[in-house]
Amino acid sequence: RDDRIARIASAIRVIPDFPKPGIMFQDITTLLLDPKAFKDTIDLFVERYKGKDISVVAGIEARGFIFGPPIALAIGAKFVPMRKPKKLPGEVISEEYSLEYGTDKMEMHVGAVQAGERALIIDDLIATGGTLCAAIRLLGKRVGVHVVECACVIELADLKGRERLGDRPLFVLVSST
Ligand code: PRP
Ligand code: MG
Repeated sequence: RDDRIARIASAIRVIPDFPKPGIMFQDITTLLLDPKAFKDTIDLFVERYKGKDISVVAGIEARGFIFGPPIALAIGAKFVPMRKPKKLPGEVISEEYSLEYGTDKMEMHVGAVQAGERALIIDDLIATGGTLCAAIRLLGKRVGVHVVECACVIELADLKGRERLGDRPLFVLVSST
């Protein structure tokens, strides 16, 4: 196993009972404080996706905006933000998804991507997988983009988000149980 992974895993801080009792919050801000671990994180994604003919890196607000842009620049792809509702000024297409309580929406600018493009979707973490599924629907079903893979720094394996993604490939650096 790549020894960069161990350094990345240990740079992620776990904060118990945030934002509510029983939740072990995976805090990537401490990873960002360690330039070597942060660079290794980006490098591992770049090594995997360079040369794969990806034209779009779609990053999910908020923490997908931290990891997506450096990957996009390094592989020569455009960066497309997948935003919370009512933030984007132009015409949008939106997709609803379910949260533990209620629903949320994800929006993307019309015209940012074209049918037939090859996309990588980036977020910091997959829990239940609902967020990534919404991004896949937006890019895939709604626009006709080919989603090559979803990539996250952390997977909360107990929540079985990988199963929810079905046959959509998921790549993660650190799996936490
Ligand atoms: C967190 C995390 C992922 C999402 C994963 O974001 O950054 O985006 O939850 O959950 P899921 O797999 O169960 O859908 P959050 O919605 O807390 O917002 P933020 O990134 O804007 O802080
Ligand atoms: Mg998020």
